[in-house]
Amino acid sequence: MFNGLALGVSRRAMLIGLGAGAVVLASGRRAGAACLPTVNQIDGPFYPLVLPPELDADLTTVAGGTGRAAGEVIEVIGQVRDAMCRPLPGCVIEVWQANVHGRYAHPNDEPRGRPLDPNFQGFARIATDKDGFYRFLTIKPGSYVAIGDWVRPPHIHFKVNAPFNPPMATQMYFAGDPLNDKDRLQAALAAEQRAMLQVAFDTKRADGVGVGTFNLALQEGWVPPSDPM
Ligand SMILES: [Fe+2]
Repeated sequence: MFNGLALGVSRRAMLIGLGAGAVVLASGRRAGAACLPTVNQIDGPFYPLVLPPELDADLTTVAGGTGRAAGEVIEVIGQVRDAMCRPLPGCVIEVWQANVHGRYAHPNDEPRGRPLDPNFQGFARIATDKDGFYRFLTIKPGSYVAIGDWVRPPHIHFKVNAPFNPPMATQMYFAGDPLNDKDRLQAALAAEQRAMLQVAFDTKRADGVGVGTFNLALQEGWVPPSDPM
């Protein structure tokens, strides 16, 4: 099984190349312990060219701004795990999204004429803690026309940069939004995959802010450097 090492194939390349099944064998753990991987989705055309003045986990305010971003404030929490469901500390999660008007702070989005929100951060870099958990505060984004009659439902873009893994990009949607059923990106997914990306925000904090849980699982196994092979 591990002749790849003798042939000079790196351990990481072997794990990535063979997929989650190989991870199970390499780690000696049961296949039943595997997490269902999060669906990869495209970055889209609006990954920021210019980063906002701050990248912290509160997207509802910006340094030098005049107040709070317009829109419904929400909190997103979750845990990042590998394909074996092991928590992943030390990840950097990038999130980016449209503002309440459905406008990205990106020049490709200028022609549609929707307004920017000078108080909305629009992008953040968030680290997972020692148990793989993350959280950030933002506003529910607006929908926008992608092309023709295709309207993108409210969504937040995620890119997970995890140690020993290639970046994983996906999109989080809002459960119950009627535009989800007409979204061409989600239509391409199996029902189980689609459900993993749709998050409910019906849990409320004491201050009324809706909280949604979006857990992420990588396609490959993350193997700690100290893990003997
Ligand atoms: Fe988008």
